[in-house]
Amino acid sequence: MTIDLRSDTVTKPTPSMLNAMMSAKVGDDVFSEDPSINELETIAAGMFGKEAGLFCPTGTMTNQVAIKTHTQPMDEVIVEKSNHVYFYESGGIAYHSLSSVRLINGDRGRIKPSDIEENINPNNIHHPHTKLVVIENTSNRGGGSYYQLDEMKALSEMAHKHNLMIHLDGARIFNCLVEINASPNEVGVLFDSVSVCFSKGLGCPVGSVLLGSKDFIAEARRNRKAFGGGMRQAGFLAAAAIYALQNHVTRLKEDHSRAKAIAKTLNETSLLENPVSADTNILIFKLKKEFSAEKMVDKLKEKNILCFAIGGNAIRMVTHLDFNDEMLNQVCEVLKNISY
Ligand SMILES: Cc1ncc(COP(=O)(O)O)c(C=O)c1O
Repeated sequence: MTIDLRSDTVTKPTPSMLNAMMSAKVGDDVFSEDPSINELETIAAGMFGKEAGLFCPTGTMTNQVAIKTHTQPMDEVIVEKSNHVYFYESGGIAYHSLSSVRLINGDRGRIKPSDIEENINPNNIHHPHTKLVVIENTSNRGGGSYYQLDEMKALSEMAHKHNLMIHLDGARIFNCLVEINASPNEVGVLFDSVSVCFSKGLGCPVGSVLLGSKDFIAEARRNRKAFGGGMRQAGFLAAAAIYALQNHVTRLKEDHSRAKAIAKTLNETSLLENPVSADTNILIFKLKKEFSAEKMVDKLKEKNILCFAIGGNAIRMVTHLDFNDEMLNQVCEVLKNISY
């Protein structure tokens, strides 16, 4: 049995999810005639207190469509330097939106309100117009770190005080919500747009949704078409997402406690430079200099455990729907006994 901790995107649909997909009613979504997609967009928008939603194949597309819709060429986007929209989306902001990026050196992927205020450009011909703030919650390269509700509120207030838009990359927002005990609505109202992924912790094969005002989503729908993201009978995928919203949210806590158990085991070994904590389902730990992350990944692979070396002698492990207690015990046993 291979235990795959490389990402929470590796999950396969459960039999019940597949059943929901197989019985989905579908139509042509480019004509807005797919009942399952229309239902998903309505449900997700309602949950997050938004007027409308737009189903897309990926979180990269929902983020990039959002940025394109919020900006004009020669605008600037404020974002933390390790956040997905900048670090992992292939230069998409420059390519799609012809906008520049003001990078913030944050704390495990998170920024502070003062980072926004201090990085707004003066309004003159020398500078791009600061237009948009993007935050990521939970933060992927931040090792699953998250913002508390009052921290998100403060960021939103600061952005809006300066007439900036603020977009939430909520690829894993439900991982945050189950930790802070907040409702999607309380978070959604703080942002001008929200991207939510179904293909991460929620266990779907494909799909993300972009949420915002009616006018914003109408323009985003046009941009999605230009990006090549207009799908046809994709309601089979939306049905998986509806199923996940109904069945896979509260269980995320289990992923978090398994990540914490791995962290505890690691902290009891002599492998780490500093103790690691698991805030949600992503665990990033740095090995002492005498150990090599690549070698550790290879050693774990020999024991059928997959994870990633992510640079700087760090390793990333992500827990998810297809990782159970039996696998957890096996991982902890291997980590306790790993030899160099
Ligand atoms: C924080 C974050 N945002 C966006 C994405 C993009 O999602 P996708 O792989 O569906 O494009 C990811 C993917 O892992 C992510 O971690």
